[in-house]
Amino acid sequence: MSALDLGIDLGTANIIITTGRGGAVLNEPTVIAFDRNSEKVIAFGEEAYKMIGRAPEHIAVIKPLKDGVISNNDMAQELIRLCILKVIGRRLINPRIVMCVPSGVTAVERKAVVESAVSAGARTVYLIEEPVAALLGAGEDIMRPFGRMVVDIGGGTSDVAVTSLGGIVAANSVKKAGNAFNASIQRYFDEKYKILIGERMAEDAKINCGNIFWPSGEKTGVVSGRSLITGMPARVEISEADVAEAITEDVEAIAGAVRAVFEKTPPELVGDIYEHGVVLTGGGALLRGLDLYITREFGVKCRVADDPLGCVARGTHMAFRVRDKLRNGFEKVNVSRI
Ligand SMILES: Nc1ncnc2c1ncn2[C@@H]1O[C@H](COP(=O)(O)OP(=O)(O)O)[C@@H](O)[C@H]1O
Ligand SMILES: [Mg+2]
Repeated sequence: MSALDLGIDLGTANIIITTGRGGAVLNEPTVIAFDRNSEKVIAFGEEAYKMIGRAPEHIAVIKPLKDGVISNNDMAQELIRLCILKVIGRRLINPRIVMCVPSGVTAVERKAVVESAVSAGARTVYLIEEPVAALLGAGEDIMRPFGRMVVDIGGGTSDVAVTSLGGIVAANSVKKAGNAFNASIQRYFDEKYKILIGERMAEDAKINCGNIFWPSGEKTGVVSGRSLITGMPARVEISEADVAEAITEDVEAIAGAVRAVFEKTPPELVGDIYEHGVVLTGGGALLRGLDLYITREFGVKCRVADDPLGCVARGTHMAFRVRDKLRNGFEKVNVSRI
């Protein structure tokens, strides 16, 4: 990939742009803030993320891909355009772009995403499916006639796929991932401790006290919010056991998706996966104990990829080099200039 080629991982939680030379050149939360009065975008990425739950009425802070589908097309398009422009700056270049979009995004929405890349100056756009990018980025050799399984746990969706000979053999996706974990944690504290906590507080609890395999009962964290009883500020001490209890059902749903993929994978490939193990990618792979949980559930080895948050982004531009060998999951999109 030359310096004029960009890889874009349009995730539900984070958007990452890579270049051949520089690795990741942009890494921002998939969030955009819109001023309803002036009808203008006022911030995107990290700056907009900081406004979540803290913005006045007239400012809409939007996660345009929240649940793994595009919930706000205009804002999704604008966000992609702004991110590409931030990377290419004022340079007069028309990059080739490989983009990875969540599996739940429809054909029409894909087209809209591609169009926004074109409006930011893209010359050619390719789309790649997330599992292919994730495995490449995790350093797996997917070209051999050998089964590989990836479980990519992002913000909106968890995607499970098996590949062999550079193509996807079986896949499944569930809308249970990082965002669902946060919502479950919020609900848990609401029900059990009668305290209303914000989304970002839930995220902190998940990151600091998440442990799905061997949760300790020791109170090592705190959350604060509003008491549902007094209506006043309140805080409670929490343990890993609290977080584990809150998210167990979601983790079970992800295991269910893995099971469904095993069931439709040809036996030879299941044998390969048994031998080689499962790879975890995406931010959710950082949840402590998840690898051990999967090993216990399925009796297969499981490893967390290096830098799991960056796998798909790395894989997008690696895919560029091996595009002739990829059998499916990589598509050149015809772009019409507008
Ligand atoms: N240490 C961690 N433990 C658990 N979850 C984490 C951790 N770090 C990040 N995450 C979660 O990972 C998700 C983002 O992962 P990412 O792969 O970037 O998603 P997407 O591809 O959908 O943008 C978020 O929901 C975030 O809360
Ligand atoms: Mg992702």
